[in-house]
Amino acid sequence: MDAEITFWPSGRAVKVKRGTSVLDASRRAGVSIATRCGGKAACFMCKVTVLPGSELLPMGDEERRKLAGLEEKNIRLSCQTRVSGKVEVELPPDPLRAAVAKALARQKEESDELW
Ligand code: FES
Repeated sequence: MDAEITFWPSGRAVKVKRGTSVLDASRRAGVSIATRCGGKAACFMCKVTVLPGSELLPMGDEERRKLAGLEEKNIRLSCQTRVSGKVEVELPPDPLRAAVAKALARQKEESDELW
């Protein structure tokens, strides 16, 4: 094991072999990343934000084409991104939790307006 990846916001970390994809590392760490295409760079659901200083192998043409410039904001496809050393990634909020939080915030606003 010559690479280590940490997933935020949980802070879970796992040691993996150099060249392991971020998606495969997440599964080993017990961290959930949404996918629909099974890691074929087709669904675009596995996006993560790579934190500055992370050591990654060079981006492939397929991923670069799919991201169409999003890589400049440190967004990568976890199924295509391969680690080469110490890596930290931020996962997007769980869509269900985000929807519940938004609904609760809206409900609170409506409740506050009544008083
Ligand atoms: S898993 Fe579908 S694009 Fe990465």
